[in-house]
Amino acid sequence: MAKKIAVFVGSLRKESFCRKLARALIALAPASLALEEVEIGELPIYNQDFDDEGTPPLSWISFREHMKDFDAVLFITPEYNRSVPAVLKNAIDVGSRPYGKSVWDGKPGAVVSVSPGGLSGFGANHHLRQSLVFLNIPTMQQPEAYIGNAATLFDASGALSSDNTREFLQKFMSAFATWVAANEPRKS
Ligand SMILES: Cc1cc2nc3c(=O)[nH]c(=O)nc-3n(C[C@H](O)[C@H](O)[C@H](O)COP(=O)(O)O)c2cc1C
Repeated sequence: MAKKIAVFVGSLRKESFCRKLARALIALAPASLALEEVEIGELPIYNQDFDDEGTPPLSWISFREHMKDFDAVLFITPEYNRSVPAVLKNAIDVGSRPYGKSVWDGKPGAVVSVSPGGLSGFGANHHLRQSLVFLNIPTMQQPEAYIGNAATLFDASGALSSDNTREFLQKFMSAFATWVAANEPRKS
């Protein structure tokens, strides 16, 4: 059976390059992976009081519950001020708590950073990896995916128009399928 992969997009922008890239990755994934976008924009900013007082917002509860459906995680992140956008960091924080009940623990993962600039979101990619180490997400090391000059990669309909990038993304997804299989995904 195909492994279920939760796809997180770290941008809420309508014309987000990350969202377009995520859609391209979903289309290019091998049959052994079933990818699904998980929306994170409505999650209230993490406040530990809600967990400590037993009053977590309903959206946190359903997000944490939904994450049990997935075998692995794929993060598509832009770079905000050389780091991870707040919306993505917030989803990671919400999923990591209450202490000892993290939804991330042991799920294999991968990171793709996307930027219209030439540095390709390197800073965000590696800041994100720092959290994933702590959260015990075995994160694919190679191939690394730094997608730069993003404004040149898509056509007017939002579809990928770069053959080179398509070829790279296909290899990336194939490597990720191998990584997921090798890291014995388990439900949290
Ligand atoms: C608050 C903010 C900070 C940004 N900082 C960076 C940055 O550090 N590096 C970078 O390459 N682009 C930066 N950008 C530009 C984003 O890469 C660009 O807006 C990109 O389109 C965001 O991704 P998206 O298209 O998926 O929304 C920043 C944009 C915003 C709004």
